[in-house]
Amino acid sequence: MIRSIAEIRRDPLSFLNRMYTQFGDVVQFPIPDPPTYLVSNPETARRVLVGNARAYGKRTIQYTTLSLVTGEGLLTADTDAWRGQRRRLQPAFHHSTLELIAEHVRTSSDRLLARWSVAGTAVVDIDEAMMHLALEVVGKSLFGADLSGDAARLAQATVEALDIVVKKARSPLSPPVQVPTPANVSLRRAVEDLDSSVDAMLAERASRPRDLAEPPLDLLDLLLEVDDQGHAMSRDEIRNQIITFIVAGHETVASALTWAWQLLTMHPETMSRLRAESAQLVAGGGPTFSDLANLPYTAAVVDEVLRLYPPAWLITRRSHEDDILDGVEVAAGSLVIVSPWLVHRHESMWERPHQFMPERFLDDAGQRRRDVVNGPGYIPFGAGPRLCIGRDMALVEAILVLAAIAPRIELEPVGPTPSAMPLVTIRPRGGLPMRVTVKPVP
Ligand code: HEM
Repeated sequence: MIRSIAEIRRDPLSFLNRMYTQFGDVVQFPIPDPPTYLVSNPETARRVLVGNARAYGKRTIQYTTLSLVTGEGLLTADTDAWRGQRRRLQPAFHHSTLELIAEHVRTSSDRLLARWSVAGTAVVDIDEAMMHLALEVVGKSLFGADLSGDAARLAQATVEALDIVVKKARSPLSPPVQVPTPANVSLRRAVEDLDSSVDAMLAERASRPRDLAEPPLDLLDLLLEVDDQGHAMSRDEIRNQIITFIVAGHETVASALTWAWQLLTMHPETMSRLRAESAQLVAGGGPTFSDLANLPYTAAVVDEVLRLYPPAWLITRRSHEDDILDGVEVAAGSLVIVSPWLVHRHESMWERPHQFMPERFLDDAGQRRRDVVNGPGYIPFGAGPRLCIGRDMALVEAILVLAAIAPRIELEPVGPTPSAMPLVTIRPRGGLPMRVTVKPVP
C-alpha cells in the first residue's frame, strides 16, 4: 500500500485497473482504519447502492472533504438529514424544468457558436468552453441567474476548490483547513468567490419576490419557500444547496461533453452519423425539447461516453452494519468504494468493454436500449435511493448540446490525445485544445 501511494497520486485510474486485474471483484486494501474495500462486480456494486442501501451511508473521507466546499447539501448529507432534503427539492426536477433546460441549451449553444464564429478558425480549449456552457445552463435552469458574465470566475473557483479538496482527500495527513497553508488559503478564497455568487443570486431574487399564489418556478424558489411542515431553510442551508447544485450540476456535464467531443473527433464515422441525425433539426431552428425523441443515436453516444468516462468515477459509502459482499465479510464502519470506471468495463456485462461503440445502446430498430441503460452494469448516475437527482437534466442537456453544435462545427485536435485525469470528475490533463471552425447553418 505504501509503495502504491505515488501511483495512486499520479494515476489513480491505472491503480484501480491494476487492483481489479490482480485481485478480482472485491479487493480489501491493507488499511486498518477504516477497513477499505474496492468493489468492481456490477451485481455487488448494486447490492451496496440499491439492494442493501440502508446499510450504507455517506460519512466517508471523500464526502466529508467535499463538504468543506458544499457544506451539508443534498450530495453530501448522510441518510437522516438527506431524506427530507430530497423530498423537498425533487419538484425542481420535474418535466417542465426539462423543457426549460432545452431552451437554455439552445441560447447558450448559440452564444458559444457566435463567439467561435467571430474568432474565425481558432484554437480553443473545448474543456473550458464546456465548463462555461454547463455553468450557464445550470445557473439559468435552477436559479434563473445569468452566470455568463461570471462564468469564468465561478468555473475557476469551483475547479480550484474541488481540486484542492480532492488532494486533501488523497492526503490524510494534510493540515486541517484552519492552518493557513497555501492550499488552505486558496481553498478559502475559492469558497469566498462561490459564496459571493450565492449572495448576488439571493439579492437578485429578493429584489423580485415571487407571487406566493403561483407555484415555485425553480430550485431557488423551492429553497426559499416555507415547506408544508412550516419549516424555512436557514441562510446557510440555502447556501449549501446552491453550492451543491453548482458543483454537482456543471463539472459533471462539462466533463461528459468534453470527452464526447474528444471521442467524436477520434471516430469520424460516429461524428458523421450524429451530425446526420440532427442537421435537419438545426436547419429548422432546433433542436427543441420535443426533438429529443428523434435523437436516439445522439443519446447512445452520450450513454457510451458516460460508460467510458463516467464523470463520477468513484462512489464511496461507509457501512453502518456488517455485510457480506461477494463472499467477503465487511464489518460495520468500513469504507466501500464502488468505481463506475471499473464496473463499466466489467467483462461479465460488456462486450469489448474498452471500445467506443455507441451502437451497444441501440436495439435493431435503432432505439435506445432501456434494458442496458437501466442494467446493473451501468451506473454513471449511481443507483438506488441516492441516484443522481439531475440525471434527466444532464441527459437532456448533453444530448441537445451535441445535437445543436455538431452539425455546425469542424473540430481538429491540436496536440496528442490528452490522458484522463481523475479529480472530482475525470478531466483531460492539460485541457482539450482543438482547432474549431464554425460552418453555416446546414
Ligand atoms: C453527466 C452528468 C452527471 C453525472 C455523471 C452525475 C453523477 C452523479 C452520481 C454518480 C451521483 C450519486 C453519488 C452517490 O451515490 O454517492 C449523483 C448524485 C447527485 N447529483 Fe449528479 N451527476 C450528473 C449531473 C448532475 C446535475 C446536472 C445535477 C443538478 C443540477 C446533479 C446533482 C446531483 C445531486 C444533488 C446529487 C445527490 C443526490 C442525492 O443524494 O439525493 N448531478 N450524481
